[in-house]
Amino acid sequence: MGGGAVGVRRGAVAARLVDLGACIDHLAASGNLLRVRTEVDPKHELAGVARRLEGGKPVLFERVRGSPYPVFTGLLWNRDIVGSLFGLPKEQVPFAIADGIGSWRARPDAYPARLRDRAPANEVVEDRIDLARLPIPVHALKDGGRYLDASVVVARNPETGRPNISIHRMMVTRKDRLTFLIDPGRHLGEYVEVAERRGVPLPVTINNGVGLAPWIVSSLPRLGDDKHLVAHHVAGRPIDLVRAQTVDVPAYADAQFVIEAEILPGAREDEAPFAEVTGYYGGRDRRWVMRVKAITRRARPVFHTVLSGKEVWNAVGFTAEAAIFAAVRARIPEVTAVHLPHGGCGFYAAVVQVRDPRPGTARAVIGETFRAFRSLQRVVVVDADVDLFDAVDVDWAITTRFDAGAGLVVLPGEEGHILNPVVSVNPDGKGGTVTKVGIDATVPHGADPARFERVEFKRVDLARYDIRAGRAPRRGPARRSRRAG
Ligand SMILES: Cc1cc2nc3c(=O)[nH]c(=O)nc-3n(C[C@H](O)[C@H](O)[C@H](O)COP(=O)(O)O)c2cc1C
Repeated sequence: MGGGAVGVRRGAVAARLVDLGACIDHLAASGNLLRVRTEVDPKHELAGVARRLEGGKPVLFERVRGSPYPVFTGLLWNRDIVGSLFGLPKEQVPFAIADGIGSWRARPDAYPARLRDRAPANEVVEDRIDLARLPIPVHALKDGGRYLDASVVVARNPETGRPNISIHRMMVTRKDRLTFLIDPGRHLGEYVEVAERRGVPLPVTINNGVGLAPWIVSSLPRLGDDKHLVAHHVAGRPIDLVRAQTVDVPAYADAQFVIEAEILPGAREDEAPFAEVTGYYGGRDRRWVMRVKAITRRARPVFHTVLSGKEVWNAVGFTAEAAIFAAVRARIPEVTAVHLPHGGCGFYAAVVQVRDPRPGTARAVIGETFRAFRSLQRVVVVDADVDLFDAVDVDWAITTRFDAGAGLVVLPGEEGHILNPVVSVNPDGKGGTVTKVGIDATVPHGADPARFERVEFKRVDLARYDIRAGRAPRRGPARRSRRAG
């Protein structure tokens, strides 16, 4: 598994990996784009329509009330389509990302970014700063306001000056203000702490509508300085940056919109509720504040948004699968694949596949997997014959191979992700704990192999058979006409 994906991306695939516009063009040309021609209200209605289409073809809302710009959503909500954008079978996408991480670690400077002065992202510099001009939707019925949720934040580590990229939900509060969430453990939180200690603002660029590689790589956790370069290794080529107008932080040259801003030291405002990865509302609290200093855009931009649900589960799932695979496989070579299913919100539950595990391998995998991705609450280990993308097959393995007396690992008092309502939040509000569970659903060691022989049927090619739906032809002798009778 893995291997060979990096450095071979040329032409059209590489273009899609660096430019959202090329992704949309490819989707349209391959019949994989739905266009909503009817005007939609960005408040609730757009998300309501998207919800009904979720998981199918990505969607372009061509007419959005109150804004001249179309809105695009659903880029990642269907893994088969993501695979087609990467030019790979869907199962290979996490390995391509894991390869990108490995290649970046081995040769961090192989694809240095070019910093341009002019690029599509600053083709137009808005004369007025007014976030109301952008078609920023209100998604769920109880969301606290209009949210940017598909934008990559670029910030420099104040200690090193090196950039890092991450995604943050950002609620519009005024025409030039945003309040936003930083979860515990994020690099952006560390940078803001340093800037606040120094009493200075932290400049950022907010990049809406970036290519597939930076979009996915930005949610790879805990890589730190120069994480953006991982996207270059995934794309197999440098991804251009562009100088911002008002802040000393680069932006993505091919972004659809760039919002230049600074995080104000010491400022906090009410943020949320917001429809979160968990399927519940993230709660309101006093959170960090950004002041917008400039807005630039392409000449004909498309605004990018994501709906809480399948797209977010895949966004976090792909990166978690890549990060876990890279980390765990390095220590336990029996690991062949990792999947974070939608039932676990792509974030809290992992299924890890192993080939020919030895006694103790599954337990070791459970421990390493929890270490590799902190938000996980459940890890299931399955054998190589189990389809880890098929929830029924995984459940079947648990039902027929897992004996709780021998294969259950219970880890009380572990660090949990505070957005998940089952996690008990610490009194200081800075983290939370939860009991985690590991399930060894591999065939028990020493078991009689005959008892675990999986039923198999003859493999056939259905194309060779005349198979049709509908009423069966009448049997028996043909009916005689009355006259003849
Ligand atoms: C759609 C989406 C929205 C996200 N929103 C937030 C957010 O509001 N706050 C946050 O701290 N992390 C959020 N994340 C997760 C971080 O972007 C991600 O963990 C990232 O890797 C953090 O970077 P870091 O490890 O360098 O700090 C989001 C991820 C996705 C895919």
